[in-house]
Amino acid sequence: MKKKLVVLSGAGISAESGIKTFRDSGGLWEGHDVMEVASPEGWRRNQDLVQDFYNQRRKQAKECQPNEAHLKLASLENFFDVSIITQNVDDLHEKAGSTKVIHLHGELSKAQSSIDPKLIYNLDHWEIKKGDKCEKGSQLRPFIVWFGEAVPKMDEAIQLAMQADIFIVVGTSMQVYPAAGLLDYVPKQALTFLIDPNSPGSGLRRDIVYIQKKATEGMKDLEELLLGQNF
Ligand code: OAD
Repeated sequence: MKKKLVVLSGAGISAESGIKTFRDSGGLWEGHDVMEVASPEGWRRNQDLVQDFYNQRRKQAKECQPNEAHLKLASLENFFDVSIITQNVDDLHEKAGSTKVIHLHGELSKAQSSIDPKLIYNLDHWEIKKGDKCEKGSQLRPFIVWFGEAVPKMDEAIQLAMQADIFIVVGTSMQVYPAAGLLDYVPKQALTFLIDPNSPGSGLRRDIVYIQKKATEGMKDLEELLLGQNF
């Protein structure tokens, strides 16, 4: 039976595909107050601005291609039972060929009813327009988990983390909860790796193998290491 390899990815894995991260300098939030574009209050205050912000993100994501880090994670399915828990709202893991992907913070490629969060629709175009409505007659909004909103996929993600034989954290600043808390559920005996070019500082658990590289280079090293071992 294949070993369970569970991945927690963040904005850093898509950086080399041309999507800006949130908290690096030059990051997406610059010029935008987070609460303005990523909170229910911001949506109530200025729907046009929020809709436009995510329309632009959606347009950009459609043009982006997965990089070697996404591709390597997809090809590891040949050797491991791989599940990806991503905080990213782009679809680059899917484009790379990964088959088990959980989006903790929503998906740009979908729209959600603004009165019933269970009503979610696939979008085949990049723009949600004013007047685009759900079947209950309310304006469609981006399917994004905003600050202060529940993270419905969290239980599923916790179950996966608890079953990991190998756990890989890649490209996340681990500043946003509950996602950052997933590491606490990883079994002590699981081999745990962190790939990030910037040091997470002193908070790193001692048993985590830290690969201080960009996602593409770090995944290359890690793939060699994992395939070289007899799991
Ligand atoms: P952040 O922007 O907070 O962190 C990005 C991480 O990627 C940082 O630790 C960088 O050092 C690292 N990084 C930068 N370039 C990299 C590269 N080429 N390869 C690997 N790592 C690289 O992004 P997240 O941790 O994903 O939520 O942010 C978490 C959540 O905060 C997001 O999902 C978003 C935001 O608010 C929502 O949109 C709801």
